[in-house]
Amino acid sequence: MRLLKLLIILIQLGAARTQSGKFWHISDLHFDPNYTVSEDPFKVCPSAGNQQVPNAGPWGDYLCDSPWILINSSIYAMKAFEPAPDFILWTGDDTPHVPNENLSEKAVLDIVELLTNLIREVFPDTKVYAAMGNHDFHPKSQLPAGSHNIYNQIAELWRPWLSNESVALFKEGAFYSEKLPGPSSGRIVVLNTNLYYSNNKQTEGMADPARQFQWLDEVLTNASRAGEKVYIIGHVPPGFFEKTQHKAWFREAFNAEYLKVVHKHHKVIAGQFFGHQHTDSFRMFYNDAGVPISVMFLTPGVTPWKTTLTGVINGANNPGIRLFEYDRATLSLKDMMTYYVNLSQANAQGTPKWQLEYRVTEAYRVPDAGVQSMHQALDRIASDQEVLQRYYVYNSVSYDLLDCREVCRTEQVCAMREVAFAAYESCLRSPAAKPASGFALLLAALLGLCTVQAR
Ligand SMILES: *[C@@H]1O[C@H](CO)[C@@H](O)[C@H](O)[C@H]1NC(C)=O
Ligand SMILES: *[C@@H]1O[C@H](CO)[C@@H](O)[C@H](O)[C@H]1NC(C)=O
Ligand SMILES: *[C@@H]1O[C@H](CO)[C@@H](O)[C@H](O)[C@H]1NC(C)=O
Ligand SMILES: *[C@@H]1O[C@H](CO)[C@@H](O)[C@H](O)[C@H]1NC(C)=O
Ligand SMILES: *[C@@H]1O[C@H](CO)[C@@H](O)[C@H](O)[C@H]1NC(C)=O
Ligand SMILES: *[C@@H]1O[C@H](CO)[C@@H](O)[C@H](O)[C@H]1NC(C)=O
Ligand SMILES: [Zn+2]
Ligand SMILES: [Zn+2]
Repeated sequence: MRLLKLLIILIQLGAARTQSGKFWHISDLHFDPNYTVSEDPFKVCPSAGNQQVPNAGPWGDYLCDSPWILINSSIYAMKAFEPAPDFILWTGDDTPHVPNENLSEKAVLDIVELLTNLIREVFPDTKVYAAMGNHDFHPKSQLPAGSHNIYNQIAELWRPWLSNESVALFKEGAFYSEKLPGPSSGRIVVLNTNLYYSNNKQTEGMADPARQFQWLDEVLTNASRAGEKVYIIGHVPPGFFEKTQHKAWFREAFNAEYLKVVHKHHKVIAGQFFGHQHTDSFRMFYNDAGVPISVMFLTPGVTPWKTTLTGVINGANNPGIRLFEYDRATLSLKDMMTYYVNLSQANAQGTPKWQLEYRVTEAYRVPDAGVQSMHQALDRIASDQEVLQRYYVYNSVSYDLLDCREVCRTEQVCAMREVAFAAYESCLRSPAAKPASGFALLLAALLGLCTVQAR
């Protein structure tokens, strides 16, 4: 009898080991409470600043942050596509892009609470791992390297998803780590990378704000000893924005420190998941020998808001939500599906039709969404115009359907390939990032030859 029981347990363990699960990743909902469908193009949404918004529709506008019904629709769409995920990653930015004067600590907290309640209502029994965005603070982006009333309030809002230990830690710097639910030996690390954001004056000049890097090193060292694999999530990503040039989010020293962590601990890091850019992209990490060691997925925003960042042309996107399929035992990433709604179509037809945009394994003809596969995907994007174009359409969640040619290719590929400051700059200058058509390859080879000879 005993033996039989043991056997059954072993079989169940084996099944759990090979079982795959799913989890959602959503980000940048940016609720604009004052969005209204107005005939007056100046009265539609404060988040458009002083731009005119003609012909606004009920589901939102590419110049505006999200109306409530769009946010509601995106959370219910998650429920419709996958009602029972193992957990949800939610990487922040809940409030509208308006001047600080039009928000307050209370207004920010009220919006975070509204979105928290909506997600809890639709997914009452699901663990949510939530990170703060730079817009979840007042004044925006000024998140401090120590305790703060906003951290306290948000920790209490998120208490249903957190252990008591995480609540206490969150109050000291808005980061924490927990074991993933279920029988796996998986762990999640939620970072407050707003501390590294170049717009954050509170942490300027600090070596290790809130001692988060030291803590992260310890957590990953512990995980390695315990045989755990780890997903790292956060809002502001390291590296460069792919829709322009030279635009990094982290301060340089913090960017270098983050890279050091990835290089040291890549064996336990099974994936990195960030937001903030509102675009769909990914970042590769390589060791000194050029071997791919880690991948970071950047998930698109729910807000369609066209960025006002200088140097970016037509930087709006369709609302997107993202589902991962993963191995529960090893945390290895098997596939990634992005779902979206065509906003102009939703407004024209009166209802939003959420649909699968693409599956990463199909789009790039790779076996899974792991490091090796994403490295292969990047190679195809960099060397095949057709794959580059497909990637480029996904980059804006099927909003910008224009051609991506030489300059666009260089910007996109260098941002994906190089997270380090110096390597990124040298990639922009290097012929390796240029189009790899037969002629260009020949030209690059000849140029390479000339450089060698000139030396
Ligand atoms: C939210 O979406 C659900 C599902 O589509 C719908 O039943 C509900 O009425 C919506 N609520 C609001 C406030 O839009
Ligand atoms: C929304 O409108 C109210 C009333 O005019 C105003 O007080 C508030 O600042 C506005 N909020 C945003 C986020 O623009
Ligand atoms: C935003 O704040 C400015 C300056 O305080 C004010 O003039 C304007 O009416 C506000 N806009 C909204 C929509 O509340
Ligand atoms: C967590 O803290 C709450 C309130 O501070 C307390 O009631 C509860 O017993 C604690 N739970 C555990 C598991 O320690
Ligand atoms: C790492 O593990 C040690 C020993 O179990 C523990 O005391 C410490 O708190 C852990 N560090 C972190 C950051 O979790
Ligand atoms: C989105 O809808 C608009 C309006 O119906 C249409 O012109 C556009 O081609 C659609 N985009 C995609 C990617 O299907
Ligand atoms: Zn954002
Ligand atoms: Zn952000």
